[in-house]
Amino acid sequence: MLVTLEGIDGSGKTTTISSLQEVYPTAVYTLEPTDSWYGDAVRNSIHANNADPLAELFLYMADHAYHLQTIIIPALDDGKLVISDRYIDSRYAYQSASLDGIIEDPLSYIEKIHQPWTILPDLTLYFDIPPELGAQRSGSTNKFEQISFLKKVHDNYEQIISKNPDRFVRIDASLPTEDVIQAVIKSISNSL
Ligand code: TYD
Repeated sequence: MLVTLEGIDGSGKTTTISSLQEVYPTAVYTLEPTDSWYGDAVRNSIHANNADPLAELFLYMADHAYHLQTIIIPALDDGKLVISDRYIDSRYAYQSASLDGIIEDPLSYIEKIHQPWTILPDLTLYFDIPPELGAQRSGSTNKFEQISFLKKVHDNYEQIISKNPDRFVRIDASLPTEDVIQAVIKSISNSL
């Protein structure tokens, strides 16, 4: 089973993962951008204020292709529970925002170019926080962490959730960490 964690910057996904490791010790924990040279290319781009948004989309997709082939598919074939900190919906939400006004209907385009070769998650936990809180918690240190950008990303996540209501579970990530962790564990165990 493939579980993905999604949300805007500062939504607290990464903090939750260390607690999940205690509850599901045999699961495979992974993330996008990956720890690989593809992921390094993406991270270089995140910190480049003049990065081309279309080029950036394809860097993220290259990293996703690598992630699928080297980590996701082998672990699923082994029957493992796979938990990924960010996955396709990050592209759908973030790159739709960065390509807004550059290409027509970016969300449909990004979905279309993933669809032939990606694997959809069985469950996606959406860590919901207001964009103002996300910007404050993340420290607004790069171009993606600015309130105006996070507002667009937040709207895009809402659009994706309304199109895929069966795959998503919304987690109120503005609650205290312990409550967030309990809600996450409950959703995963309900789906196992
Ligand atoms: P991440 O390392 O998860 O950052 P954080 O831990 O601060 O949430 O992701 C890095 C940034 O890259 C984050 O701002 C989200 C963005 N991102 C995209 O724009 N598209 C993507 O496909 C992915 C995976 C991440």
